[in-house]
Amino acid sequence: MCALKTQSAIIMQSRGKATVEHDLAIPSPDAFELLIRVHAVALNPSDWMALDTFARPGAGAGYDFAGEVVEMGERVSDWAVGDRLAGFVHGCHAANYTIGAFREYLTADSELVIRLPDHVSFDAASTLGMGISTAAQALYQSLNLPLPVSNPTPIAQSILIYGGASATGSIAIQLAKLSGLHIITTCSEQNIPWMLSLGADEVVDYKQPDAVQQVVNLVRKNGLSTILNCIGTKPTAEFCYQCFTEPETTQHREYVYAPLMPLSTSAPMQNSLPATATINHRWKFVYTCFGKRFTTLTDHPAINGTWQPCREDKQFMVRFYRQFETLLKDRKIDFMPQEVKLGGLHTVLEGISLVREGKVHGKKLVYPILSCAIP
Ligand SMILES: NC(=O)c1ccc[n+]([C@@H]2O[C@H](COP(=O)([O-])OP(=O)(O)OC[C@H]3O[C@@H](n4cnc5c(N)ncnc54)[C@H](OP(=O)(O)O)[C@@H]3O)[C@@H](O)[C@H]2O)c1
Repeated sequence: MCALKTQSAIIMQSRGKATVEHDLAIPSPDAFELLIRVHAVALNPSDWMALDTFARPGAGAGYDFAGEVVEMGERVSDWAVGDRLAGFVHGCHAANYTIGAFREYLTADSELVIRLPDHVSFDAASTLGMGISTAAQALYQSLNLPLPVSNPTPIAQSILIYGGASATGSIAIQLAKLSGLHIITTCSEQNIPWMLSLGADEVVDYKQPDAVQQVVNLVRKNGLSTILNCIGTKPTAEFCYQCFTEPETTQHREYVYAPLMPLSTSAPMQNSLPATATINHRWKFVYTCFGKRFTTLTDHPAINGTWQPCREDKQFMVRFYRQFETLLKDRKIDFMPQEVKLGGLHTVLEGISLVREGKVHGKKLVYPILSCAIP
């Protein structure tokens, strides 16, 4: 049992405003849940986007965390007190202060967390949750690629990962490489060495005026039918569509485009494929992996509304996390560079503003959560 009874957490007050609240009850885990003492949290663009749009007053903020088990639900058998883990929770969701990662203690589904090997620090692990989950849904559910393994056999398939220097892109490059694919990615010039170090085979600076042509030249012989767009804006979607290329010798391939953000328009986009070709557009919302019903209120038509529980998405993520634990144990994953900021939950609020203002590039802001004693 957890000896402490109360905790501090970041709670939504009104649109765009959240504060650190104290003396909040520490929840008890349900039968299949863990109670976790949070050791570190990391920031995502989704933190400020949720605060500024759909988060309701009273909701707990934050997604990504790493910590240790302090209590198990009565039906949990494969975790023990003190086990180290990382993951993400559905922060800013519902007017419920017990949900959210920016706090001292949280409860999480015991199947939907990632066991950490000893060599992985809490700070590094806190950067994983949302990034790997989003990348995994896109690569393995939307694009249907083979699951990653520690020693992959290369397959004759290229993927364009647009926006490789994003948090999701940097993990997607590594996962797709461990799935055996040939990786082409785009980023700003200064990030090219980083992309190559993650396993990208070809890197194109998307700011060059002939960047689309550079990608097409790279895939001219075997074609390009698989694209993950880690940015998702309209200009980036137009770039990606122009990169789809028919192979020199074969025809009738299925073309699949997976953006991390859907477009709010369904206007057709220009591409150079034959008129008979179809491009399947597949977007997934990462929160469906929790397997629960939820409602999102935004003015984006593809995101707004009530999402029904999806058992298949949860089953996929549980399976993927077990696979990912092996990759971590085998030291196959490089972490996003981290800037560790001290000061606890109060400084998390400052960090959310920095991300909102576009002042954070090529790294994750990470905050050790220091204030509480281990019960
Ligand atoms: N589907 C889902 O459920 C889901 C879940 C989580 C996140 N998302 C979305 O996924 C996207 C990526 O999130 P993230 O946290 O991975 O991003 P992030 O780490 O904040 O990405 C920042 C990087 O993306 C690149 N970039 C930014 N704007 C660009 C543009 N207009 N064109 C090309 N590159 C650009 C820049 O790389 P360079 O420095 O190389 O220029 C920048 O450093 C966001 O839109 C987020 O909302 C979706």
